Amino acid sequence: MDNRLFATRVQPDVPSRLDGLFPQLAFDDAIKFTAGAPAENLFPTEAMKQAYLAAMAKEGPHTFQYHTVQGPTELRERLAERARTRMQIESATVDNIMLTAGGQQAIDLVAKLLLNPGDAMVVEAPTYVGALSAFDMYEPTYYEVELEADGLNTTQLEDTLKAHPEIKFLYTVADFHNPGGVTMSVAKRKRLVELANQYDFLILEDTPYRDLRYVGESLPTIKHFDTEDRVIFLSSFSKVMMPTLRLGWLVASPMIIKQLLKLKEAADLEVPNLTASAVNEFLANNSLDDHIKALNKEYRVRQQAMVAAIKREMPAGVTATEPEGGFFTWVTVPDFINTTDLLYNEATPNLHIAYVPSKNFYAYKNHTNGMRLNFTGLMPAEIDDGMHRLGQLLTEKLTKVTD
Ligand SMILES: Cc1ncc(COP(=O)(O)O)c(C=O)c1O
Repeated sequence: MDNRLFATRVQPDVPSRLDGLFPQLAFDDAIKFTAGAPAENLFPTEAMKQAYLAAMAKEGPHTFQYHTVQGPTELRERLAERARTRMQIESATVDNIMLTAGGQQAIDLVAKLLLNPGDAMVVEAPTYVGALSAFDMYEPTYYEVELEADGLNTTQLEDTLKAHPEIKFLYTVADFHNPGGVTMSVAKRKRLVELANQYDFLILEDTPYRDLRYVGESLPTIKHFDTEDRVIFLSSFSKVMMPTLRLGWLVASPMIIKQLLKLKEAADLEVPNLTASAVNEFLANNSLDDHIKALNKEYRVRQQAMVAAIKREMPAGVTATEPEGGFFTWVTVPDFINTTDLLYNEATPNLHIAYVPSKNFYAYKNHTNGMRLNFTGLMPAEIDDGMHRLGQLLTEKLTKVTD
């Protein structure tokens, strides 16, 4: 059998966008700024163990039965309450929330809902690589809009919409962007909704990092400003609890939820009831907000170390975003430096540091002078040490050119 039998969407000769994203490092002592995963020592392991036991005790064998596509009502009620009080989504009710297999599945289902091959969509440049992996499968035409310090460039977005009125879908990570590290301003959130109304497209607002704010005040969600049911709001338990739960949840209009439920049913019928019930028990018997507070206290120390190290170590000509939360900062180096080559030829073999190079975070993989640095997976001393090494390497590169 040869590749001929595969659907075109698979593109068998093109590697997955996630390939090489977390390179296996030959050096155990390498300082890895690569992580996309939350810190394991902060997982609520014991509380979840109790929550699983409580879920099984409550429902007996019925726990293990098939349940509903949308997810258990009690959990959806809790999430609706959370959406109303913490995310300012006043329209959230038990009926317009659904559970998904992580945020990742929701991204896939929304793409499946909206995209025929060739359909036009907007992504931020850079954007979350896993979203691009999902979108790729529906063969869209991408239009990229640059990310600025206060979120996507809405002027450039409007120009793109004028030139391509067929655009029907926009994906954004407005809070503590992955990989950009930036947060969209309130003005841009409002503007985005206005543009969606004017140019007739839907927005997927993906917010897995939203609760992980270390400095400053939380901003209203884009969904909060939604006047025509054009925003699909997505959250996940992966970063604030644990990724293995594979539990995401979205809020959308009843009309959209109805279609997404058809797609969820076709894909995998429902989320595992044991997991959903255990998370429900966790929320009933613990304060998620207290847990998030504890996470933020710990992550804040690491964020502060990163912000200080950027100021101290990065040479002129190199810029970095200053994250107020989330997991990442984004570094831009001058054009002549290819960060993939730099990683494999110098940073890792010579200096024993690793980061994620920019290429795969761009829809057309044509951007080679950026890097994503994670700061939540490292202790402050490691951040200091790793950033010192990176600073020296970049200084050396820049000095060679100016000599
Ligand atoms: C922006 C963004 N969206 C979605 C996801 C998917 O997360 P999960 O499927 O674990 O909820 C991630 C994970 O890294 C992410 O960074």
